[in-house]
This record gives sequence, C-alpha cells and structure tokens, in this order.
Amino acid sequence: MKTVRTMAELRAWRGDVAGTVGFVPTMGSLHEGHLSLVQRAVAENDVVAASIFVNPAQFDDEGDLAAYPRDPERDAAMLHGAGCDLLFLPTPEELYPEGYETWVMPGAVAEPLEGASRAGHFVGVDTIVLKLFLLVQPTNAYFGQKDAQQVAVISTMVRDLNVPTTVVPCPTLRDADGLAMSSRNARLGPAERAAAPVLHRALGAAADALAAGERDAEAVRARMRAVIEAEPLARIDYVSVADRITLRELETVDPAAGALLSMAVHVGPVRLIDNLPWTAAKQEQPSASDERVARVTTKEVRP
Ligand code: PAF
Repeated sequence: MKTVRTMAELRAWRGDVAGTVGFVPTMGSLHEGHLSLVQRAVAENDVVAASIFVNPAQFDDEGDLAAYPRDPERDAAMLHGAGCDLLFLPTPEELYPEGYETWVMPGAVAEPLEGASRAGHFVGVDTIVLKLFLLVQPTNAYFGQKDAQQVAVISTMVRDLNVPTTVVPCPTLRDADGLAMSSRNARLGPAERAAAPVLHRALGAAADALAAGERDAEAVRARMRAVIEAEPLARIDYVSVADRITLRELETVDPAAGALLSMAVHVGPVRLIDNLPWTAAKQEQPSASDERVARVTTKEVRP
C-alpha cells in the first residue's frame, strides 16, 4: 500500500490508475466496521483508496475534536492488511490552507437529528467529502449506515452537484452485546462500555413495540426514552422516529413505508449514535432494500 500526504501526490497516483476506483473516507481510529467497507470496496473495484483525516470543519466542539482518537500507524497497517492500495493522510493545512473560504451548503435532509444537534456538522462533512471526491475521483464510495443521515446528506450532495460517484451504504457492524462499532467506543471507560449497549436495547424495544402494532410515533419514542433513562450513565440528546426519506419526525408510523429509528446518547463523556431502519418486515441490519432506500433518497429528497 502506498501512503501519500499531499494533494499533488494523490493526483499523480490517480492519473496513473486505470479501471474502477473504490474509496473509503475515514477519520481513522479504524475498527472492523471500517475494514468491512474496505473489503467490500476491494471486492467491487479494480483499485481501492482510503483517507484518514480528522476533519476539524465537522466538529462543533473543540474538546470533542481534541479527544478524537488518533493512531495512524496502526490504521495504516489495518488498511494494508485489508487490501487497500492507497492511503491519503493529509494535514489540516493541506486541505484547509490559510485563506480557505468555500463551503458546501447541504439541503433540508441535513437539518433534523445530527444537523439540529451539531451546528454546521454537515457543512463540514459535505465539504470535505466533495473535496476528497474531486481528488480521488472514485467510481464507488463506501459509507457505514450507522451514520444514516450522513449517507442521506452525501447522497443528496452527489445527486445535486452531479458528482460521478456511486454512494454505497454498508451495514452497521456490532459487538456481540449489540453496541454499534464506532471509533468513539475507544473513549468509553469500563463502566461506560458496559452501559453503552443501552442504545441497541432501546432500538430493539422500539422495534418490538412497532412489531406488536404500535403506530403512534410519540409512544415509540417514549419506549426508547424509558429504556435509556433506566441506565444511570446515559443521557439522551435525542430519540427519533422519522420518515426514512426526509428524516422528519413522524406522528404515525405507516408499516409499509417504515421509519428510521435513531438516537444520540451521551454515555459518560462520549456521545454515541445508533439507528435501526424499520419496516413491517423487521430488519436488524440494513439489507439490500435499505441500500435501495438510500439510493432512492438521492432521487426523492426535494431541495
Ligand atoms: O464518517 C466519517 O468518518 C466522516 O464523517 C467522513 C465521511 C470521513 C468525513 O470526514
């Protein structure tokens, strides 16, 4: 695997590459979930590139940015082992030099949920992802469905700005106790790690309520809140039962259309997110049909 740190080196590499290019953008501190994206990219493309860049523009909290775990040497070894061909490892100054002033403004799908809780987050995400797409020029780009709203926001940006890249959403990987894999999990202390599967349990309780016939979205949200509030180390940021396309809160769940169940919860000092796409045929993980929903999102989200 080749490692490059500058845009000039990356452009030179891209100029020499033929065939399809798979791309996995990351912020590092890699786990099995990231590797599953790389493995899928390797299976579906001629060449695979990954990036590691802790993007300051998508953090609204300096403390969160400073605390974000970083281990580029371990990450590079993991990427190499997964079959990645190129690692782009830029500095903040390389991508945001003195005088940088252009930003991508996402649409309505970026407003609720993470967009409402983290000011400017998706401006930072869309901007860095577009910059990386312009440099890498990927055929396919792979993103984890744990960040379901991020997938929807990036898919909408790709559609609206005519970016010739296919966004490929991939299933959330979980530890044995249900905790969704996340780089942030490394910051959980032992008691917090033991408490963290409460997010998965709350999503399960909501899915069970829906499967049992509950259609009042507020009642489903209340079920999730009750599970989380029973865990002393957990503090709710939001719980949501939203339309799977627009991500707006629902009043009533139509079983045919389904709903995106999601939440952000502080466990000790660490803010965790998780989600479960639900339809009448209950799904624990995003399946091919969820990929279709994410792809449909790119066509159906209105400006
Ligand atoms: O999901 C992430 O790790 C980041 O938001 C991304 C897509 C790499 C952009 O910085």
